[in-house]
Amino acid sequence: MAETAEQPNGTSAGSADNEYFATNPKPATLDHQSPIARAFINQHASQNRKVALVTSGGTSVPLENQTVRFIDNFSAGTRGATSAEYFLENGYAVIFLHRQFSLLPYSRHFSHSTNCFLDFMTHDEAGAVVVEDEFQQQMARVLDRYKKAKRENALLILPFVTVNEYLWMLRELAMLMQPLGSNGLFYLAAAVSDFFVPAARMVEHKIQSSEDFYEAETNGEDAKPPAAHMEGKSLVIDLDPVPKFLKQLVDAWAPQSMIISFKLETDPKLLAKKARYALEKYSHHLVIGNMLNTRKWEVVFVSAAGGESWIRVPAERRTKSAMGKDLMESAQSQEPAVEIESLIVPEVAKMHVEMIERAKSRSR
Ligand code: PMT
Repeated sequence: MAETAEQPNGTSAGSADNEYFATNPKPATLDHQSPIARAFINQHASQNRKVALVTSGGTSVPLENQTVRFIDNFSAGTRGATSAEYFLENGYAVIFLHRQFSLLPYSRHFSHSTNCFLDFMTHDEAGAVVVEDEFQQQMARVLDRYKKAKRENALLILPFVTVNEYLWMLRELAMLMQPLGSNGLFYLAAAVSDFFVPAARMVEHKIQSSEDFYEAETNGEDAKPPAAHMEGKSLVIDLDPVPKFLKQLVDAWAPQSMIISFKLETDPKLLAKKARYALEKYSHHLVIGNMLNTRKWEVVFVSAAGGESWIRVPAERRTKSAMGKDLMESAQSQEPAVEIESLIVPEVAKMHVEMIERAKSRSR
């Protein structure tokens, strides 16, 4: 059953967004996840610790209620999972809202598709399973950081699959984070679907491709046809736009937090321009622009306070093995020797401290 949520800070949500939550059902898992998130946030609020909500991975758009087919958004979760580790290293507690089965902080080091985690293991002379000698140091480093995050209860991992789950979770978490005031930070690295199938136009069963078995599902004579349906031998998909929730997040759900969005482009001419456009449209704090092919080597920060500035992996550390290659060449063949998130996150944390100081001096 769908339900409308009241805005806890007394502001009313934009009508398109109210309409969204009134007509698209609350995910079944939200009532279970919400108290867990509340307890986590309260713990860190009471310790005056900064909390970053890191979103990661792509949202999916199911075409059927009993989902066999869906449309997906590109993102392995590398940006989000890597950034989450650096936020933890920079003293933050992290809520990691990620696409189920995309990369996770810490385990990402051992779950790369070319390296099964069993490749890191061996038997010792007594037959016990141990880590191979060559991986001991690297694994010990990651393990120590992982254990510290667990000891401090500093990392909360929450999954989503669909864009609907993502949006309900984002709104819920934003509201729960309000008591953090300016200590809250949103780092929106997830790739969020721009189009979706609204609940009212979703078919229940797997769409049959054979004309012999296809039966059109309807919701009454006047209703629009289901968003995904067969016309002859063709599958026709007619998607609705997802309302842009960044505006609501900035104005109503998290008005005191620092909000950072990402912009992904493939045309270099458009990147900075579209990042600036997003900043002006949503009036948040920072847009981090990245190109699909070079996102591990360079990003552009676009902010009202700092204009436009590029963060780049230094030329001599661009690849683990091939120095002197140009950026595109190395991007296509290699991994950088430095994780660019190790440069991005401290810069973001610095901007956040400045924002907190400004908020404090305003309230004095
Ligand atoms: O995981 P990797 O493989 O490392 O890839 C990381 C990444 C390239 C996916 C990541 O760095 C990135 O760029 N993520 C943002 C992708 C993107 O361009 O999103 P968008 O244009 O759909 O949205 C831009 C911003 O608007 C997002 O921060 C989103 O929070 C927000 N948005 C989007 C849709 C919507 N309906 N409402 C929104 O508010």
